[in-house]
This record gives sequence, C-alpha cells and structure tokens, in this order.
Amino acid sequence: MLDGRRVLLIISGGIAAYKSLELIRRLKDKGCAVRCILTRGGANFVTPLAVAALSGDKVYQETFSLTDEAEMGHIRLSREADLVVVAPATANLLAKMAAGIADDLASTALLATDKPVLVAPAMNTMMWDHAATRANMAVLEGRGISRIGPNSGDLACGEVGGGRMAEPAEILAAIEAHLGGGAGPLAGRRAIVTSGPTHEPIDPVRYIANRSSGKQGHAIASALAALGAEVTLVSGPVTLPDPAGLTTVRVESAADMLRAVEAALPADIAVCAAAVADWTVANRSGEKRKKSPGAPPPVIELTPNPDILATLSKPGPRRPRLVVGFAAETEKLMEHARDKLARKGCDWIVANDVSAGSGTFGGDSNAVHVIDASAAESWPRLGKDEVAARLAARIAAALEGTP
Ligand code: CTP
Repeated sequence: MLDGRRVLLIISGGIAAYKSLELIRRLKDKGCAVRCILTRGGANFVTPLAVAALSGDKVYQETFSLTDEAEMGHIRLSREADLVVVAPATANLLAKMAAGIADDLASTALLATDKPVLVAPAMNTMMWDHAATRANMAVLEGRGISRIGPNSGDLACGEVGGGRMAEPAEILAAIEAHLGGGAGPLAGRRAIVTSGPTHEPIDPVRYIANRSSGKQGHAIASALAALGAEVTLVSGPVTLPDPAGLTTVRVESAADMLRAVEAALPADIAVCAAAVADWTVANRSGEKRKKSPGAPPPVIELTPNPDILATLSKPGPRRPRLVVGFAAETEKLMEHARDKLARKGCDWIVANDVSAGSGTFGGDSNAVHVIDASAAESWPRLGKDEVAARLAARIAAALEGTP
C-alpha cells in the first residue's frame, strides 16, 4: 500500500526523535520513499548521518543552504510528497504551525505545503496539557491536520502522563490509513465489535447493569474503521456518541446483543469488549413491581445469559477468522484469562485488571495483557485510544496475507 508513495518526515527536537529512526526503517521496508527535514533541535537527539543512512537520501536542515535551495527549495520539498508527517512534533513547532510562523526550514515547508499533514506530538505532560498547546492543537485540527497520540505513560523527563509520542507501529498505521486512499490494511475486512454494558430488565422501570462505559469498545471500533475495516459496533446503553465512519446498532440486553451480532455476520474479525451481564432476570415482571405493606421483598431469580463470545468462537463456517475476547478480572489476572481463552474458544484474550483503584472501569486508560494460545504480551498503561490503535494494528498484522 505504501509502495511508491512519498512521505516528507519532519523530525523536531525531542527525545522521541530516536523513535523516528525506527519509523523511517519501517516506511522504507514498505517501499515508501522518505525524505527528511531535521530541525536544529532534532539534530540534538539524532544525527543527520543516521537519518540519511536510514532514509537513503540527503537530510534537509537549513532554509538558506545554497546547495539545498539549488537542488530543492522548501516549496518543492513540501510539495513533492504525498503526506507530510511531523514526528516528534514539539509544543514549539505546533505553536509555530498554528500561528503560521516560518522561521526555519521545517516551519517554512509546513506553511508552504499543499499536502495533508499528520502530527505525532511529543512533550512533557504539563506542556501537552497547557491551555496554549491545547488551543494550538484545536486550531490545527480545525484546519484538517491529523494527529496520532500522544500516548500516556512514563515520560523521559521522569514524569508520568500524556505526552509520549505514539509508537512507530501506530504512526505507520496512521500513515497507511492516510495513504491508502481510504483503503488501509483492513480494507475489505468486516469487523463486529461489542461494547458497553447490558441492561437486564427486572420490570419496565428497573434493570440490572454494570459500570462499563463503552469507552474501550467504542475506541476499538473506531481504530478498526480507521484501518479500513467495515465495522458494525453493537453497543449496550452508553452515553457516548455513535462513532463516525461505522455502523452502530444500539441494544439493551444480552439477548438483544446476541441477535444483533448474529445479524451482522459474516465477519472476518470479532472483538467482544462488552461487559455482558452473565445473568438475566427469569421472573421479569411485565408491570412495575409494587411494594405492599408487610409483604416480604421480592426475590429476583436469575438465569444465565447466552455467551456471545463463546457463540462467535464456535467452530463452523460462520466463525470469524479472528475472535478476540476481553477478561475483566479483579484477582489472578493471567490465570483467569488463560482459563477464559480455553473455555470460550476465542483466539486472543485482552486481559485487564478492573479491581477497585485500577481506574479502568469508566476511566480513560487501561493496562492490558494480550494473550493467545502460545504467548502473553503486556502493554504499559495506555490511553484507551492507544490500546485500541495498538490492538487494531496487531489485528491487521495477524490478518496480513490471509484471504
Ligand atoms: N462475554 C460475552 N457474553 C457473555 C459474557 C461475556 O460475550 N454472556 C464476553 C465479554 O464480552 C468478554 C468475555 O466474554 O469478551 C469475558 O467476559 P467476563 O464477563 O470477564 O467472563 P465470564 O465468562 O463472565 O467469566 P467470569 O464471570 O467467571 O469472570
């Protein structure tokens, strides 16, 4: 998909610049031509020689270098690319882009370009959260500039929070989504994602529910769609808006959810992120249950719900090629997750700790372990969007080359 495409990569000054070397290598592996501008700050972190060696091209550093201007002016440099990627994008460069300042080669090329621009911000968490950076980013996004990351986690400055540059694999996936002409590595693949809680009615006004917000499942649906998949999101009751670029089916109970999932088959990919109630109410009342003086409290009888993940995982012609389940555990995380993988028959389990204080349920971040039959991979605590982007990239890699 990237074969023969051209990326202008602008590397500005941040410790994350070393990850851009890996990005260049990955782009080149895919047959993409990479031309690099290294800012003065960027050159403090990576050498022009390393950038030149990896990109197989000369590195552009100065606006008024006579030879550069003779060979290639900043205008040609910024136009002879299909996409301009700024990674890392510092707070300073984002501010210059927002204000239209052109005082070095990078900012001049960014002002002169007529091509789409993707930025991968990287900075200290206070700088990322600063109202000035937020306002600059909002201006840039309002102008149609795309952003990948930043992720949250340990920062080079020793602090923890948002501001870590997205991983090379995530930036690569975002580049592929741009340059694939709406195609992406999952183009032609169908995906079903379940998300949110289910509501199991006790009577017309009461129900049994759980604390799932749907944030993780919705983010996964969007991430798969961003890679080109045709996604049906089957969501229990949540307060989130329906994501753009995919089909959302809203349901209430586990039984409704199963019906909607079966109606969305066939699919290549199924990700069951919903917190489905294990039981539903057997003695559901058609009328509102009334209390009467002296009468004992009503007894609610429960009966098992269908297991959507296990149903999807059953071998057969309609089984999606890749079925991914979630395991929300409060103790013995890995042991229970491995047991769930075997019991439910899915291909991967994404295990997360939802014990009190983990901040996962309803929160914006998640620390997960991705487990398959042979191995387990532990990811650091990441924003739910980043978990989704990584999972989508992993799914795309797993399906690459399959019919
Ligand atoms: N799941 C499902 N349908 C159900 C219950 C669970 O599809 N009726 C899916 C969830 O979406 C998740 C996985 O199964 O992907 C694990 O759910 P969880 O509730 O953690 O597992 P349980 O099977 O309920 O096991 P336990 O309650 O013992 O933890």
